[in-house]
Parts: sequence; structure tokens; C-alpha cells
Amino acid sequence: MDFKEHIVKKLAELTGLEQSAIEKAVETPPDEKLGDLAFPCFPLAKVLRKAPPLIAQELAAQLSSDELIDHIDAVGGYLNFFYNRAAFITDTVNAARDAGDNWGRSDMGAGKTILVEYSSPNIAKPFHIGHLFSTAVGNSLARIYKFLGYNVQSLNHLGDWGTQFGKLISAYKRWGDPALIEKNPIKELLKIYVKFHEEAEKHPELEDEAREYFKKLEDGDDETTALWKYFKDQSLVEFKRVYDMLGVEFDSYNGEAFYSDKMDEVVQILRDKGLLVESDGAQVVDLSDMNMPPCIILKSDGATIYATRDIAAALYRHRTYNFDKNIYVVGLPQSLHFRQIFETMKRAGWEWSKDCVHVGFGLVKLPGKAMSTRHGDVVFLEDVLNESIEKTREIIINNGSAVNDIDDVSKKIGIGAILYTFLKNSREKDIVFSWDTMLDFDGESAPYCMYGYARGRSILRKAAGIDFSNADLSKSVSDDAYMLVKQLNDFGDAVKDAAAKNEPFYINRYVTNLVKMFNKFYNTNPIMRSDVDEETKKARLAIVDATCTVIKSALALLGIEVVESM
Ligand code: ARG
Repeated sequence: MDFKEHIVKKLAELTGLEQSAIEKAVETPPDEKLGDLAFPCFPLAKVLRKAPPLIAQELAAQLSSDELIDHIDAVGGYLNFFYNRAAFITDTVNAARDAGDNWGRSDMGAGKTILVEYSSPNIAKPFHIGHLFSTAVGNSLARIYKFLGYNVQSLNHLGDWGTQFGKLISAYKRWGDPALIEKNPIKELLKIYVKFHEEAEKHPELEDEAREYFKKLEDGDDETTALWKYFKDQSLVEFKRVYDMLGVEFDSYNGEAFYSDKMDEVVQILRDKGLLVESDGAQVVDLSDMNMPPCIILKSDGATIYATRDIAAALYRHRTYNFDKNIYVVGLPQSLHFRQIFETMKRAGWEWSKDCVHVGFGLVKLPGKAMSTRHGDVVFLEDVLNESIEKTREIIINNGSAVNDIDDVSKKIGIGAILYTFLKNSREKDIVFSWDTMLDFDGESAPYCMYGYARGRSILRKAAGIDFSNADLSKSVSDDAYMLVKQLNDFGDAVKDAAAKNEPFYINRYVTNLVKMFNKFYNTNPIMRSDVDEETKKARLAIVDATCTVIKSALALLGIEVVESM
């Protein structure tokens, strides 16, 4: 039973207003003392030619409580509804327990496709912390949209094309050592790439050689293509190790190179539409009327660039997936790039360009030497993940917790702590990485939320053998029980809000609050204590059970796995 809907219907009958109008008007009062749902009477004042407080009073007198509504108060211009707690708790907990993993799910996305492009590191370059931010946000959004019934495709737009590969090939042919590369692909490839730049300062002719190699690569020459593929395969081995640790999967790894043969068409379309103009020998789309620098399509040497490949990729995605939304989870420094390509696509007459969305995020600050790294001055992500796991292991050992599988538990908490940190605030905010905050088991952190779950599961283990499937939930209607169950009820809304704004932090905040309420609940509502009578115990166990399921589902939407004990 939907309590809100019930009240909306009642109000519609009484006032003669459209249900949809009432549904928009009702709000959650800022303070729970003011009830569960409020109806502001101000908009009625004009029609009824009466002051809102009077309208509220008259309506309150005409409305009566029923099996779902405990009482109704008129306060100022508001009509405040108080639900029947026992009915609300019974209804919500039973529904949540019946639904299990499906609680909060929706089919609003049925038949619709959403593409989420994220991570997108550059091959032969370190997978850096910005790519991790993208990975955390994108993976969470993909999970959120799936939960809402969308067909989701996770895309990794690898940076695997561009003139730098000419340089890398030249470097490899001079100094490449396959044995070293296979041991430590990205570190070695980076080393010879850096060396190329140093040498090219002294011997500029190296640059010409590199250009020639890239030209060969673009022309499909066998040797250079094989080398490029080798760099890509080696890099992917390393990237996939990180993705495995994070529990992240992609449906496609089509990187920039995949579009290298799909760009002529784009250039032709833009030319036919009369959008290309010459500027310093380059072919560009002039966007000055939008106060943007031109979108460069072809460089003066005729080579295509990043933007061209992105436009070709968008067209390909439209044709391949016929998407409802095409999301790019990429750092805010690339905002202008996306505004330029979206505008260019719009001018090309692609009406679906309006469904392309740049979901940006802020910068990550690594204070001091907090991030140690074995690889010199670049922070390697795998090191950061391993460091988090190690630190977690130390904390668990110091806490003296008895966990069965410390490797598994440290890994889930250590990785969870990092993911949580990226999804803790609105994504456009910068992040300061701090181990202390991240691994604070009492603060707002993944370990804190995971501990709430483990605590609940431990209570349920102790209660093994007690059948609470038909618990009489009217036995557990304390304030803290009520607050907790109301939060359980709000899960679906939190998921929808997160999707509407592409902000996983709505779920992060939701689950953190849920755990806070749960802690309060089991502190003030003892469960397995000997003085708790059997019926009350059962009712409380049912609430614990429903809460555990929701914590687990919510954390899963952030990419965080729970542990049974910690
Ligand atoms: N590889 C790029 C980088 O590391 C990110 C790619 C973003 N996606 C895109 N479609 N342009 O900066």
C-alpha cells in the first residue's frame, strides 16, 4: 500500500483538485515532529478566497483518520498527515522482505538503452587516479541504470590512437626490451616513451621518424600495426587486473583506434553541410557564435584528432545501439571538448546529439606523500588499491576482530573504502584523498557502512532457528524503528534521484544514513537480549533482516561488496 498515494487520493476527492497536482504539491516536512507528509494549502487560497490557515483547518475537520492515517494536524497553512505507524511498518517491512534483492528496483527503463562510457585510460600510460574517479562513478551509474531496468552498455573508450604511437614505436625499435615490458608493461613503455622525448630534444629528426611510423600505422602497415597491438594487449593485461580488483566489467573496449576508419564519413558529412572552414591550414567548425573556440576536425597535415574520433564514435554508437542516452563520464577539464563536439554534432543535423551527456567530475588531491608508490613519481593505481587493502588488514588485526578470511575481507573493505570516497560527494567537487577518513570505521566511510551490515548479519546468525517470517510488526513501533523503516521505504526514490542527476552520491548518502539509523535502532531496541519478549524479538528481527538486504543492495549500486563479518 502506498501511503502517499492513499493521501493524495483522499485530498483529490475532498478538494476536487487533480491527483497529479496534489502529488506535486505534497512534501515531506522538514522535521519529523510535523508528520510524515504535508499538504501546503497556499495554492488553494486564490481559488477559495480564504486564508491558507483557515483552509487547512477546514480540510482537517473534514478529513478523518483511517487504517493508514493516525491523525491529521493543521499547522499554519499546512495540513500535516501522521501515518499509522504500525500499519506503515508492517506494510513496508513485509513488502521489502518479500521483494528481497528487488526492493527499490523499477522497470522505468524497460526497452531503453543507456550507454555509460567510463574509465577510458590511455594505453601504454599509467592508469591514474582520475581514471579511477571515472571508473567509480561510471561503474556506479551503470549499476544504477540497470537497477532501474535499462539496457545498459558499459563502454571503455581506450586512448589507443594518435601521433604518440608513432613515437612509442620509434622508441620501442631503439630501446624496447620485450622481457622487461612483459614483466611490467606500462612502466617500461612509459620509460622508453619518456626517453624518446629526451632524445628528441637533442635529435629533432626523431620526431620525423615518429611521424612516419604513425603514418604507416594509419595506412595499416603490418609491422607497425603488430607493434601497436602488442602495446595495447600488454596494457590491457594490466588494466584488466585493476578492473578485476574493482569488480568492474565492460561490454566494449572499442577505443579511439576503432574509429580510425570511420572518420572519413564524418569529415564528408561536415563538409557537405558546409560546416568546415579553413583556419591556419586546419579544417575546423567555427563555434564563435557560441563563445567557443573552433572544433578542430582535421589538422593542417590532414590528420584527424581526438574530437574527430569522438564524433565518429558518437555516430557509430547511435547506429549500433540507438541509445536513449549516451553518457560520458570524463573529468571536468574536458567540458569544453564535449560542448564543442556536441554542438558540432547538433549542427550536423543529428537530433540525437541532445541525448549525449557529459558527466564530469572534479580533481583528486593527494596530500603530501600519503600515496606511497614503488614506481617513482607517478602514482600507480594498483599500488593505491594494494595499499588500501594492506592498511585495512592492519586495522583488522589491531582491532583483534575474528574474521574467517582476512584476505577476502581486507580486499572488500580496502577497495570499498576507495570507491566510497569517490562517491561520497557531489561528483563535481574536488576530492582530498585521506587514508584516515577513508578507513575510519566510525566515520562516514565504506567500513562504517559495511560494519552495519555485518552487525545485522551477526544478529541474524544468533537468531538462527527463530522463525520471524510472520512476525507481528506492530510490536516494534518505537521512534527509532519508525525512522529506520521510513528510510527503508525511501530506497527506490534515492535510486531514481541518483539516476536523474547522474549522481551516485545520493545513494552513498542514503546508505550512510540508513546505517546510522540502523545503529540507533539496535542500540535503543535490544533484539536478542533475554528480557525481550518473543513477539517483540521477532518483529525486530524482521526489521534487521529487511535492513541488511537494503544495505547490501545500496552498497552494490556503488560497486561495494559486503562481508558477513568484520
Ligand atoms: N582517454 C582520455 C583521457 O585519458 C579520456 C577519454 C574520454 N572519453 C572520450 N570519449 N573522449 O583523458
